[in-house]
Amino acid sequence: MSLFSPIRLGAVEVSNRIVMPPMGRTRADKDRAPTALMETYYAQRASAGLIISEGSQVSPLSISRPGSPAIHNDAQVAAWRRVTDAVHSRNGRIFQQLSHHGRRVLQSRLTEGQRPIGPSAIAAPGFLETKAGKEAFAVPRALEIPEIVVLVDEYGAAARNAEAAGFDGVEIHGASGLLVDQFLRDGSNKRTDRYGGSVENRARFLLEIVDRIATVLEFGRIGVRLAPHFQGDLIADSDPAATFGYVAAELGRRRIAYLHLVEPLSLAEDKRLAAELRRTFGGPVIVCGEFTLADAQRIVAEGGADLVAFGRAYIANPDLVERFRSDAPLNVPDPSTFYSGGAEGYVDYPTL
Ligand SMILES: Cc1cc2nc3c(=O)[nH]c(=O)nc-3n(C[C@H](O)[C@H](O)[C@H](O)COP(=O)(O)O)c2cc1C
Repeated sequence: MSLFSPIRLGAVEVSNRIVMPPMGRTRADKDRAPTALMETYYAQRASAGLIISEGSQVSPLSISRPGSPAIHNDAQVAAWRRVTDAVHSRNGRIFQQLSHHGRRVLQSRLTEGQRPIGPSAIAAPGFLETKAGKEAFAVPRALEIPEIVVLVDEYGAAARNAEAAGFDGVEIHGASGLLVDQFLRDGSNKRTDRYGGSVENRARFLLEIVDRIATVLEFGRIGVRLAPHFQGDLIADSDPAATFGYVAAELGRRRIAYLHLVEPLSLAEDKRLAAELRRTFGGPVIVCGEFTLADAQRIVAEGGADLVAFGRAYIANPDLVERFRSDAPLNVPDPSTFYSGGAEGYVDYPTL
């Protein structure tokens, strides 16, 4: 199988197996709606088999860096519609990544009386850089069960908004130590009710979200992103193979569009889980993390993955597919403009 052959992801046909993964670039406006610049940026990258939008917040109470977009109100839907129209007019396919930062929302970004929320009252170790300097993560308020029900509803409403905005599907952000990940892992989830303890209980939040979204979209338009090895804020799980194996099996049973696994290529061979999770899941798997063209061709040819996502390479190479086809050299991304706002380092990387 080649990186350039088409594949069906649930209800969606894509023309090649090269994926642009979700990447927050902080170019949204103050109301967290996409700007015209974002329309250009995504349209430039429409030859990817699949684009997954940057993480978009499902709730007004989930706030990431200034300039991060959301998908919980009508103005945001209307603005995202212009982005999806631009991608579709170039025959591209685009899913929206739905995210909630949970305990990683900084206290200073909330208003008086609000607190970050999480499965348990355990702060993420570490801090984020803000304009005012380093800010440590606060101890979150542990969610009450009725609040979890409301959150699941928010994901459902966000999926309805994503559909109204013209997205081909949604990807649930279950990676990077964000809210879904906080529930999945026994290091951040110490609940003793039906959302904590056993693997089945810790996975309940994610699976309820998937099932709720399936009442809006079909399972074949839902992807899930997981990062079993992510330890960015020391989020830990005592047995990732068991936790993520159970999740992969449950997602496979539901025949969702795809499973998206972040597993850096540099990870030691004996720690890797992607091949096993792919067998358990049984549907299309996207892998992501430090891939070059040669690595990607090899893993797809050997049947170790179905699609490969290229993050930083996509920031600097809007025509990545064409460059890969002709084995052309790649532009080098400039990390100083990843979150700088504005056109520079965003829509001005040259095509071949
Ligand atoms: C600027 C930037 C923003 C990112 N934002 C997100 C995001 O919103 N959601 C997400 O799941 N991953 C995000 N990621 C992670 C990427 O999707 C990807 O997993 C990572 O870059 C590794 O792939 P690579 O080695 O090909 O770059 C981001 C990465 C970068 C560089």
